[in-house]
Amino acid sequence: MNKIPENRLIIVSNRLPIVLTRGKKDQWQLKRGTGGLVTALAPVLRDRGGIWIGWPGTAAKHDVEMDKLLASATKDSGYTLKPVMLTAEDRSKYYRGFSNEVLWPLFHDLQSYCNFRPDYLFAYQRVNKKFAQVIAQNSRTDDFIWVHDYHLMGVAKALRDLGSNSRSGFFLHTPFPSLDIFLKLPWRFHILRALLEYDLIGFQTLRDRRNFVQCVRTLVKDTNIFGRGQVLTLRFGNRKLRVGAFPISIDFNEFAKLAKEKEVANRAWYIHEDLPHQKIILGVDRLDYTKGIPEKLKAFRNALSRFPNLQEKVVLIQVLVPSRRGIPKYRDLKTEIERLVGEINGQFTRSGWVPIHYIFRSLERKELLAYYRTAEIALLTPLKDGMNLVAKEYCASNLEENGVLILSEFAGATAQLQKSALLVNPHDIEGMAEAIYQAFRMPQEERRSRMKKLRQSIRKYNIFWWVNCFLQAAIAKRLDNFPVLADYVPIDEITDKIERV
Ligand code: UDP
Ligand code: G6P
Repeated sequence: MNKIPENRLIIVSNRLPIVLTRGKKDQWQLKRGTGGLVTALAPVLRDRGGIWIGWPGTAAKHDVEMDKLLASATKDSGYTLKPVMLTAEDRSKYYRGFSNEVLWPLFHDLQSYCNFRPDYLFAYQRVNKKFAQVIAQNSRTDDFIWVHDYHLMGVAKALRDLGSNSRSGFFLHTPFPSLDIFLKLPWRFHILRALLEYDLIGFQTLRDRRNFVQCVRTLVKDTNIFGRGQVLTLRFGNRKLRVGAFPISIDFNEFAKLAKEKEVANRAWYIHEDLPHQKIILGVDRLDYTKGIPEKLKAFRNALSRFPNLQEKVVLIQVLVPSRRGIPKYRDLKTEIERLVGEINGQFTRSGWVPIHYIFRSLERKELLAYYRTAEIALLTPLKDGMNLVAKEYCASNLEENGVLILSEFAGATAQLQKSALLVNPHDIEGMAEAIYQAFRMPQEERRSRMKKLRQSIRKYNIFWWVNCFLQAAIAKRLDNFPVLADYVPIDEITDKIERV
């Protein structure tokens, strides 16, 4: 048995890294969660003896069977999963409502997509309190509580109301909007005040931190912000907290190692074998209106029309991961994308060549890596994105170092990757088409030199660098101070194991 360590890391996010579903025979099934948050955090907690608290993604009731499954899933992993169950009303008003019809669009500068219903806020407060209760039941004062993302901005406040004295930090995976956009939120004071109850607040980029600081200066009386560099100090009444910019990353070595595996290499070979003499342009996105997918498709169509020598020489493989299907804007987007794909394929397809291959499902890790490894060009065009980990994963998996990354100016990753990626404005269809053509014609030497630099930077500023920066700022510790327990099993292996049971 592993000894329970002192000073544990307690990770709290809306979702656990797994999704529980009921199978055909009414048995529980475990699947890996999707989205950047889960990919990034899974290596952090691996075997640190901590706890990950979150929603297991199911509408079913909490039962003993579920607990047994979660316990057996992680019994050798060095950390524990604790579920927070959401009722139908919670899922509707807290998750789909306040989180994804108010905060998500607002924080991505799409205020016209917001549905500012007051009952959404009440549900948000109630569910944040529910999370705080589960944290309080499962933590000790010397634990560090690290809360993630826009769903849970009120947890520190709810914890204080419950009398907890644990230190807590918050990391926002999305962008933070500028003052003029944040002002549109009817509950702007409430949200800002709740955030100030954390001991450290982390943002993806300096721009997000600057926006937050400007909102605090304008909206919260008697605040004093001082310091320079990555982490600032904010004084507010008798509270002192820190505010920093910590660009999140990936486990570079893990991606590079997996990309090297024979199974991935074989799959990559078959993908290209089926598309002889064609360069692959790859898009991988959750089906989300922030990802600029219609804009990307229009740019591809524009490129095929204006540069006809691309025809029969390139293929766009667009992977779309289903997401938030319960929200009308997401359903409308799917219809729009499928109409565009149909139109473009209808216009350009020739015998032996279909310009767009459209995949609408979540890929297994190794299948995804095979696409990353084999694609000559990655085309990632979000209108706004907290980071965009796909950009980093593509580079880490590009072992031959000859791929080209075309990246939106409005992704968080751009601050780090701008020098060696081809940058595009996703609102500029013609400019994106030109970038596609430039990438297609880019000489080998230039491709290699750019990709080498991209990979060097991502290798250096990897997920462990990120977690160390955050912990250092929060509690003057590094991840090594939460020592690795014996007998660890990585989360991939855990979920694989469960799926086989
Ligand atoms: N991803 C996945 N399955 C897929 C395609 C992508 O799990 O079929 C993962 C991908 O590896 C990446 C994450 O989804 O880690 C997407 O993260 P990103 O930061 O790019 O965007 P987000 O979805 O978080 O907005
Ligand atoms: C983004 C958010 C995450 C979220 C993920 C998937 O990455 O920052 O918090 O988990 O999208 O979205 P979902 O609504 O399915 O959790």
